[in-house]
Amino acid sequence: MCDGNHPHHHHHHHNAPPSSAGLKIAISGKGGVGKTTLTALLARSFAAAGCRVLAIDADPDANLATALGIPLQLAAGITPVAKMKALAEERTGAQGGYGSLFKLNPTVSDLPKQFCVEQEGVRFLWMGTLDQGGSGCACPESTFVRRLMGHLMLERQDVVILDMEAGIEHLGRGTAEAVDALITVVEPGERSLQTAAQIRQLAADIGIRRTFVVGSKLRDAADESFLQSKIAADELLGFLPYHDEIRQADRNGEAPTACGNILAAITTLRQRLQHLTAAQTTFATAS
Ligand SMILES: Nc1ncnc2c1ncn2[C@@H]1O[C@H](COP(=O)(O)OP(=O)(O)OP(=O)(O)O)[C@@H](O)[C@H]1O
Ligand SMILES: [Mg+2]
Repeated sequence: MCDGNHPHHHHHHHNAPPSSAGLKIAISGKGGVGKTTLTALLARSFAAAGCRVLAIDADPDANLATALGIPLQLAAGITPVAKMKALAEERTGAQGGYGSLFKLNPTVSDLPKQFCVEQEGVRFLWMGTLDQGGSGCACPESTFVRRLMGHLMLERQDVVILDMEAGIEHLGRGTAEAVDALITVVEPGERSLQTAAQIRQLAADIGIRRTFVVGSKLRDAADESFLQSKIAADELLGFLPYHDEIRQADRNGEAPTACGNILAAITTLRQRLQHLTAAQTTFATAS
């Protein structure tokens, strides 16, 4: 159990970290800001805290596998679920060519095990995209991906972390409503904040309950106060400062290692997230 907590007993104790059972997180932001890096470090942090973690790459141009430390040869052999046409057809029952009827509820409950790669306690699934045909596409692949997402987001004990593109419109309404927190990653600059504002607007439109911002690649105290001046305190989850080790790891095709200051930063982010979302869940289920 995550941090040794019990999901049904919320003791508001200072030392007891709140339970994060069932936490569903989506990570978005402008291109290159550090979404995949944050996803990978957070996923490993939750796993280290004892959570059952599933990290999902929703980017067609995938690289989360590498950031999680999955060896290149193994990563190269993984096919994105969104590209598994034959499987989608089999599971949705559409084999008669374009326009044929298929079942809307394909069986997916047996799939995660079959297509997950596990690396150091983090299960990884390459979804590819969440909705390749735009909202409501009825092709077997899209139906299958939506159905699979619905299933994965309902696994109550799992921490699910979604590495998204900036365009969260790909997040279908069903998935969006299951998301406990959307984290928008920003760099200390106006352009990245503008994208963040657009993402927040979209998030509200598609039914995401809670949004946070994480400041990425901060170089100095001025970067930190810049973001503090631009983002409301209760929305600013925290920071993952610039670390040369993170850049070097990527250059070597390796996972960023969480130690020293990186470990401290990611642990703080993870604990704040657990704390703030647990308060929300407790509030929502009280009475
Ligand atoms: N905190 C950090 N310190 C130093 N370098 C970082 C940090 N975060 C990310 N980077 C580097 O910035 C680059 C982009 O990071 P990453 O791939 O995580 O961003 P992304 O938002 O997922 O990008 P994309 O939009 O292409 O998916 C990588 O080279 C990564 O190593
Ligand atoms: Mg990425």
